Amino acid sequence: MKTREAWKSKLGIIMAVAGSAIGLGNFLRFPVQASQNGGGAFMIPYFISLLLLGLPLMWVEWTIGRFGGGFGHGTAPGVFHNMWTKNRFIKYFGIIGIFGPLVIFIYYTYIESWTFAYAFFSVAEKYSPATTQAGMVSFLKGFQGIEKNNFFSSMQCAYVFFLITFCLNMFVIYKGISGGIEKLCKIALPSLFVFGIILAVRALTLGTPDPAKPDWNIINGLGFLWNPDFSALKSAKVWLAAAGQIFFTLSVGIGVILTYASYLKKTDDVVLSGLTSASANEFAEVLLGSSIVIPVAFAFFGPIEAQAIAKGGAFNLSFITMPLIFQKINLGAFFGCIWFLLLFLAGITSSISLAQPSIAFLEDEFNISKKKAVIIFGAAAFILCQPAIFFLKNGVVNELDFWGGTFCLVLFATVEIVLFGWVFGIEKAWEEIHRGADMRVPKIYKFIIRYVTPLFLFLILGFWMYQEGISTILMKNVSQGDKPYILGTRLMLLGIFIALAILVKIAWGKRKTKVKK
Ligand code: PFF
Repeated sequence: MKTREAWKSKLGIIMAVAGSAIGLGNFLRFPVQASQNGGGAFMIPYFISLLLLGLPLMWVEWTIGRFGGGFGHGTAPGVFHNMWTKNRFIKYFGIIGIFGPLVIFIYYTYIESWTFAYAFFSVAEKYSPATTQAGMVSFLKGFQGIEKNNFFSSMQCAYVFFLITFCLNMFVIYKGISGGIEKLCKIALPSLFVFGIILAVRALTLGTPDPAKPDWNIINGLGFLWNPDFSALKSAKVWLAAAGQIFFTLSVGIGVILTYASYLKKTDDVVLSGLTSASANEFAEVLLGSSIVIPVAFAFFGPIEAQAIAKGGAFNLSFITMPLIFQKINLGAFFGCIWFLLLFLAGITSSISLAQPSIAFLEDEFNISKKKAVIIFGAAAFILCQPAIFFLKNGVVNELDFWGGTFCLVLFATVEIVLFGWVFGIEKAWEEIHRGADMRVPKIYKFIIRYVTPLFLFLILGFWMYQEGISTILMKNVSQGDKPYILGTRLMLLGIFIALAILVKIAWGKRKTKVKK
């Protein structure tokens, strides 16, 4: 067995996992979800989901990742196979742990490239001619190639920024676990926190931007986000949204943390490290994420428009509302630049983590060099990114997000927790979690991991299938014109899955013949 790469320090892997977790989801998705789902009351299902889903899955994924790494496997097919050696099929379930991250990667990187572009646009004051909501929408649509206008005559600019972002990602991955990912996260994460704190302080000291409208102020903006509407707790939708946000924000239940943890040594702590990275994510999400966009949008545009803006979703908020606000404040170009740089750093430390399972799979299971793995992955991912770029207006990104960022997340989490608590066995699992641990997990988690988390997951899966799953699968909300594109996207996804299944078969076939010899 060839020696696998390793993290240089404990802080390094904590930073890398926190870097994966802290992403666009913290600064854009979270505030929108909270304001749309009961404001302050959203935090009740949110924290319950954190305790019953997020944290146990974080510990489980760190533990099985480290366990698998001991056998030379850094992705779920190999890890699952070692957890249930008697079952020939379990490795195929593990494919979701490579497929899901890859699917998220192919649209996430494109969105990340917009944040990079907008950081430049802020400094160059390129969006300043757009002074109204409609103008800023036009600017964004022109940039994305959805319409030709005075701002952009083609999507060339967007494509250049995408190419740069994509190459940066490949470069970091090529540099390896400690030389690339760990190094980047050690610089990017502290910078991101500094930017976030500067922006949060600026936001919280805004006061009342328009003296003629005294109610439109930052305190009421915070109230708009935090005042609880307890009736929201009766809605299953709010609980689903909270659980979904916990998965997405922590990067758990998809195989990424499993891969990162596979580069640990057998006796490295996972309990305190997992808890620390989750806490860093919650700090960025609950304190920084909620202090910026929504309260600021409220202070500038008032309650009615702020509601409409939040309903318009995360992209509108960051690429339309925020640039408009930056034009109204002193040093707007500076604050605009650090806002988009913050998003870019949050984005890139997440996207590299999404690429790593594919790279690890090629390296571990086919015994090829990092260079070769990056070339193969780079070429394949580059081609797969194209539909998201060129057919954005036809809903391809939303479709990819549904399968990669929602469906696979819940499904993979269910498989891994059942496998860990039931097949691997809770006693063995408990011992494995605590190997080399710097602190003990509260005993109640033995019960939670075995019963509560799986039950919670089955409930989510069932409810969500019932509420949205079926209509999404049947393309009920897709316009006639977009149907061919959505169908095309699904065929592409099916193709990726089959290709991965074939690769797993080949890899295991090879191993068997080797053993026979
Ligand atoms: N946690 C990231 C965010 O909040 O933006 C997104 C993400 C990264 C999800 C990696 C899943 C993942 F595996």
